[in-house]
Amino acid sequence: MIIAANFKTNKTRAQTREYMDELNRFIHLEKIRAEVIVFPPLTALDSFTGTATVGVQNAYAVENGAFTGEVGTEQLDEFGIKTILVGHSERRHVLGESQKEITRKFNYFKALGYRIVYCVGEKVETREAGEEALMAYITSQCEGIDLEYENLVIAYEPVWAIGTGLVPGKEDIRSIHAQLREKSSRPLLYGGSVKIGNMDEIVTIENVDGVLVGGASLYVQSFCQMIKTAEEKI
Ligand code: 13P
Repeated sequence: MIIAANFKTNKTRAQTREYMDELNRFIHLEKIRAEVIVFPPLTALDSFTGTATVGVQNAYAVENGAFTGEVGTEQLDEFGIKTILVGHSERRHVLGESQKEITRKFNYFKALGYRIVYCVGEKVETREAGEEALMAYITSQCEGIDLEYENLVIAYEPVWAIGTGLVPGKEDIRSIHAQLREKSSRPLLYGGSVKIGNMDEIVTIENVDGVLVGGASLYVQSFCQMIKTAEEKI
């Protein structure tokens, strides 16, 4: 089971340090076996002691160079970061990253052996067009991606469920994850409005190997409670 927190553009360095201290204390005290990953904003990246993995929400596919506003692997290496989110819906749809750029990024970090949490998910109009259209869309988001890469984790995050409180029905998640499972044997996460109240139901769905949590992960107590719920399902 993998429980991941995506802070997006939230929290300062000091708040992140406090959060990580509390989270790592919890993992240690409760002897948590589930894998916990946290993606803080760039300015809060650091070396933290404890078992939770720290990943980066985004980086440029380069070691270093003249790419104003970006960070490369030289900056990530300073903190021993070897985990990255690629293809998140906000990067695709808000920041305008194309599938071509995403594929380039994926291949660059794959060649370096990074753990890649690769996100896919449809907009509401695609969902309304039916499951066939939905899967065709998700397949197009996997173009150029090695779905059997050994360090890959796939996160299915419907765009319309992100930050809205809306969650697909249990049967919908089950069906999409079953179809993703046919494409990849790697762990499959669900993301989109996961919270304490629906965690129990989501982590028991077949082929759901964990969750990627945005808003509800910002409170360390809530996130710890969600980890505990997942832990009980291991
Ligand atoms: P929310 O949990 O806030 O819906 O965000 C999900 C997400 O985008 C995680 O990457």
